[in-house]
Amino acid sequence: MSGPIVLGFETSCDETGVAVIEGLVERSSVLASQVEEHARFGGVVPEVAARAHVEAIRPLTHQAITLAGIHPNDIDAVAVTRGPGLTGSLMVGFSFAKSFAYALGKPLYGVDHMEGHLFAPRLSFEAYEPPAVVILASGGHSQIVHVKAWGEYEVLGGTIDDAAGEAFDKLARFMGLGFPGGPAIDRDSDGGDPDAIRFPRALRDRPYDFSFSGLKTSVVTYLEKARDNDELPARSDVSASIQEAIVDVLVEKTFNAVESTGVEVVGGGGGVLANRRLRERLAEEADRRGVGLFIPEPGLCTDNGAMIASVAVHRIEGGVPGDEFGGDVDPGLRLNP
Ligand code: KG4
Ligand code: ZN
Repeated sequence: MSGPIVLGFETSCDETGVAVIEGLVERSSVLASQVEEHARFGGVVPEVAARAHVEAIRPLTHQAITLAGIHPNDIDAVAVTRGPGLTGSLMVGFSFAKSFAYALGKPLYGVDHMEGHLFAPRLSFEAYEPPAVVILASGGHSQIVHVKAWGEYEVLGGTIDDAAGEAFDKLARFMGLGFPGGPAIDRDSDGGDPDAIRFPRALRDRPYDFSFSGLKTSVVTYLEKARDNDELPARSDVSASIQEAIVDVLVEKTFNAVESTGVEVVGGGGGVLANRRLRERLAEEADRRGVGLFIPEPGLCTDNGAMIASVAVHRIEGGVPGDEFGGDVDPGLRLNP
């Protein structure tokens, strides 16, 4: 193993993630999920999230360092998510990371959460290098990014209303499948027929943009009507059909971008990329076109500290100083403003 040892913190939403990486090799990565705390509200409650980060971050840091088999003095730099995300949650991670780096006398790097998702496949695949098209789909964001070089991003398109994960979450809640909805619909689709119900695919005329609000209305109307007529279809068919409608759009728009940019590398990140059907469909399409597909294991697609640390490794190797002690969180941070 070689390269700097970086301690990475991720607290932008409802998962506290802490990891130690050396170069691009993960030495430890631990997570405290708040799913149960938010499940009874059916979504993430910002105050509850910030409080849970406060409770989790110190023991998790200890755990990450111990599991990595290092001493705190071995750490070369500290990386932390600066935004986008929930203000209170970001502040917990940022202040903790700042104090930790300051106490150790080590550099501090503030990282864009979405750039973390863009970088995550590097932790699994050496061949993942720009130029690339990357699909980012999570609970808060859905974007198609043309990565021209590391640090040089063009957001080609994205959602004009709900993010893909948000669509999964809202529809699962409506169907009574619980929170978070993505994994629930993914599981519930097993054995279901993806073509059972043809839900709408919106914005067909815009090559890189998505919209999921029409899908939501269509599912709600369909199910209410079916209930009134006492003709409710099998739940797995409904789940599989919803999943197919979302996946269809994400795959189509990603490969529109691959075609127009001419890149031969496709990456993916964000919680929705953990979806089995999406992974399968992206793999089929990449194979058909002979382009490389780099989607890491599901645990690196969902929020984690290692992806944040991996962005800092790149900056350290590029000679960028980690001097962000005077900096602050930026809940509205954008990849290319
Ligand atoms: O990237 P992430 O962990 O957190 C954010 O930055 O938002 O993404 C969380 C989102 C949630 O909306 C969740 O429902 C969705 O990712 N998700 C999935 C799956 N696993 C997580 N969506 C579809 N299928 C999955 N297997
Ligand atoms: Zn995320």
